[in-house]
Amino acid sequence: MKTELRDYPLTSSIIKLETGRVQLTLIEDPDWFLERLSREDSEGKLYLPYWTYLWESSIGLARYVEKIGTRLKEAHILEIGCGFGLTGIVACQKGARVVFTDAEQEALRFAHHNADQNGVSQRADFVQMDWNTPCFNCKFPYILAADVIYEEPHWTPIVTLLQEYLTSNGVALFSEPNRSNATGFFKLLTDTGFIYRKSTYPVTLDRQTSQVGIYSVQRAP
Ligand SMILES: C[S@@+](CC[C@H](N)C(=O)[O-])C[C@H]1O[C@@H](n2cnc3c(N)ncnc32)[C@H](O)[C@@H]1O
Repeated sequence: MKTELRDYPLTSSIIKLETGRVQLTLIEDPDWFLERLSREDSEGKLYLPYWTYLWESSIGLARYVEKIGTRLKEAHILEIGCGFGLTGIVACQKGARVVFTDAEQEALRFAHHNADQNGVSQRADFVQMDWNTPCFNCKFPYILAADVIYEEPHWTPIVTLLQEYLTSNGVALFSEPNRSNATGFFKLLTDTGFIYRKSTYPVTLDRQTSQVGIYSVQRAP
């Protein structure tokens, strides 16, 4: 995969963590790209390329991943909807091997570039994958998912993906910025045989502080 990003005006950001830091290359004016890259799907529904933003949920989940890092050493991890790749990069820094996935090839180019510049791409694979049609033939002890449950049509495919790809005692880590519809997703999870624990952390991004919910999800015993 080419990790050249010449087609975009770029900016750089350092995400500071408790013990380390991640340097990210991001798109400079994501609002402009959101309009330019938006399109209608075959049913006329507007598709917005949200990968062009770095979301506060990925910073919250990256901090949580850093905190539990010793548990992740040598773990084989799947990240869905990885966007710029921040969360998975922190998992790699903690010694995990991460399969970064996103429906958008362009997002994966950035994730790959960012993994390269943080020196972790030897611990990473990049796979274009839509969670409606997942493509693996193995299970994962950890699945990372930062800000992927914002629209209800995503919920059933994501729950199905957990049922299929999480090992029997595996943990899926979700994060989202306390949107009101998120409770619907977690109700669906409990209705389909999962349990979860939630914690909340403040995250400041672009001078705005939001409360990010971190959910640790497992199969019910
Ligand atoms: C709100 S963004 C979150 C990106 C990143 N995780 C973060 O928190 O900064 C949602 C991500 O999910 C990806 N996505 C949307 N629909 C998808 C699908 N059906 N399958 C896989 N990825 C999808 C988008 O391309 C985007 O990268």
